[in-house]
Amino acid sequence: MMLPTSRIYVAGHRGLAGSAILRALGAAGCRNVLTRTHGELDLTDQSAVHGFFAVEKPEYVFLAAAKVGGILANRDYPAEFIQQNLAIQTNVIHECWRAGVKRLLFLGSSCVYPRDCPQPMKEEYLLTGPLEDTNRAYAVAKIAGIEMCWSYNRQYGTCFLATMPTNLFGPGDNYDLQTSHVLPALIRKFHEAKESGAREVVIWGTGAPRREFLHSDEMANGALFLMRLPEDRMRALTAPDRLPLVNLGAGKEITIRELALLVARIVGFAGELVFDRSKPDGTPRKLLDVSLMSGQGWKPSIGLESGIRRTYEEAFLRRPRAS
Ligand SMILES: NC(=O)c1ccc[n+]([C@@H]2O[C@H](COP(=O)([O-])OP(=O)(O)OC[C@H]3O[C@@H](n4cnc5c(N)ncnc54)[C@H](OP(=O)(O)O)[C@@H]3O)[C@@H](O)[C@H]2O)c1
Repeated sequence: MMLPTSRIYVAGHRGLAGSAILRALGAAGCRNVLTRTHGELDLTDQSAVHGFFAVEKPEYVFLAAAKVGGILANRDYPAEFIQQNLAIQTNVIHECWRAGVKRLLFLGSSCVYPRDCPQPMKEEYLLTGPLEDTNRAYAVAKIAGIEMCWSYNRQYGTCFLATMPTNLFGPGDNYDLQTSHVLPALIRKFHEAKESGAREVVIWGTGAPRREFLHSDEMANGALFLMRLPEDRMRALTAPDRLPLVNLGAGKEITIRELALLVARIVGFAGELVFDRSKPDGTPRKLLDVSLMSGQGWKPSIGLESGIRRTYEEAFLRRPRAS
């Protein structure tokens, strides 16, 4: 089992998910955490990744490095999303096997499930229907990563587990309106509208899609929980005959319209909300079934409203934003 003295590598430690995992490991007293920035180690470079694993020999790996983006970025740059993600995860998963890593936690996303998936989405619904068009390239790459974890578990008896977190938000999120996810985009738009005295805020899509959100610290808490499962329970989750997949979500959903109203209230914007129907909506509903995770004894504790309030204060009120 993962101990405070274990050699732990967090790939993507400066990202939204990876930085939360790094904080959680620090809070858990882990003193042997390995990190490399993108500049120091390009995970799409096969020989560099091989060299890193051969020298550093991590025992536990959190794979939170990925080419990530919002709905428009996914739609406009599918080649980059599929090529970079396949390369990163292929290199890291394969080197985890070669280096004899004890446990790997591969982070995917809830977009791996079919567009018209029954709700809430159970792990077993993977590959049961067509994917949402706007992020198909990204989703196919992530599905390949899950399949790779399973293949290595089957052939080599590894403990490679994939976890699919729902939409995350928290410290270090991307607030660039062209590439960000919906929640940080709403926080920024409402904040700027309040500051400038604008009368209305334009929101992409119809407002009808339903989404689930999890604070990144909560996700990190769940990720550590999985990595620290007793050996017999981790072996059961990564058994050769079992899809090594665990959903990580809040188990609750909200419409984009309701979310926008909530963010407007938290930020203090009193103007009008205008929905731009020319922008894509994406999947109509995306709620994870979290019964596997809750059956293991884990549940989230940070509520959506308090999580958004905390995130807004950290990003916009406590220090000046860079851009
Ligand atoms: N954000 C969400 O709502 C969400 C929800 C569910 C699942 N996830 C999953 O969580 C994982 C991380 O997402 P995130 O939101 O934390 O993304 P993020 O904030 O964009 O962070 C990704 C990290 O990966 C690094 N990276 C990208 N390409 C790299 C490369 N070639 N070599 C080395 N490092 C590289 C980035 O470094 P640079 O910035 O320096 O390139 C960055 O530190 C993804 O697998 C994603 O599917 C995220």
